[in-house]
Amino acid sequence: MSSKQLVCLNEYEKEALAILDRNSSSYYQSGANDEQTLHDNINDFKRFRLRPRMLTDVSEVRLETTILGERISMPICIAPTASQRMAHPLGEIANARAAEAMNTCFVLSTIATTSARELSEHVPNSLRWYQLYITRDRAITQKMVKRAEVYGFKALVLTVDTPTFGTRYSDTRIKFKVPQHLRMANFDGIPSMESGMANNSGGSGLNFFSDTFFDPSVTWKDVAWLKSITALPVVAKGILTGEDAERAIEAGVDAIIVSNHGARQLDGVFSTIIALPEVVAQVRGRVEVYLDGGVRKGTDVLKALSLGARAVFIGRPALYGLAVGGEQGVTDILSILKKELKLAMQLSGETDVQKLRKGLVIHESMMTRL
Ligand code: GLV
Repeated sequence: MSSKQLVCLNEYEKEALAILDRNSSSYYQSGANDEQTLHDNINDFKRFRLRPRMLTDVSEVRLETTILGERISMPICIAPTASQRMAHPLGEIANARAAEAMNTCFVLSTIATTSARELSEHVPNSLRWYQLYITRDRAITQKMVKRAEVYGFKALVLTVDTPTFGTRYSDTRIKFKVPQHLRMANFDGIPSMESGMANNSGGSGLNFFSDTFFDPSVTWKDVAWLKSITALPVVAKGILTGEDAERAIEAGVDAIIVSNHGARQLDGVFSTIIALPEVVAQVRGRVEVYLDGGVRKGTDVLKALSLGARAVFIGRPALYGLAVGGEQGVTDILSILKKELKLAMQLSGETDVQKLRKGLVIHESMMTRL
């Protein structure tokens, strides 16, 4: 079906889930354990209310901004998600092309089905960042970092919430595996890793893969190590508290993503929109703070920005756009969010994403009752 008939991100999700096979839909959709945080990520946005201001001349609205000094047309970027060729044959290439068409940033996952090299060949002019898991064998991580540099990635996004992967019941039940015709492309030249989960004997293949290859002993000291082997900025993804934000800054990170990994790690942590203000308050502008998790509406973006995020990243919605319509599907998703953000700003009396008024958003528990 034409992706043009779908009018909001929730409709893309529904359509995508009807198209995807069970292995892929289970993997993309699932959250950890009882999925409490998965629901909170979306529903907690609704608990924040907008306090619009009328008659402010909203004929011109500025959505452009920068992240780590790079210009983007809107504060909406694409988060790293694994194995995008399960959603569409062009996977990460189509997703990155859509980001490029919309003039925003795409983050490639370590466990992508397209390599850093392939991405740079197919989408050479895109703004791209590289998400990193640290491997037990540091030489492999070092190689990935060098490749990220050589292939034009502008930042490393170090995921800090994954000493091991969380339990996703449906993936365990179906023994999730990346299909055999796909490969963990960033590990090319290392057959045991490239073929990824083939040797999994039970449970989710992802847990098997990460337990075999990723290093659970990583600490903040490894950020110093990472910074010693690269000149690229390092973004810590997975910060949920002020204390960890402080540790991240002390360790030398250049930016922070408030994230709970799409609610796929520790069930019961706060939603990201609830965690954001504490992190922003602790950071006090020393580094940029972004958010991912649960963003489905332009008003969600506006709320996150108003609470101090410089930009948001979307993960699952882009996968669903990919499944429905490839590059065009993702472009549509980004266009819808962009239009919704612009409209939300106009109706709130706001004209610049970088100069949002304090007090635009309030949690409903704080509202004075008559
Ligand atoms: C990968 O990062 C995942 O959460 O499955």
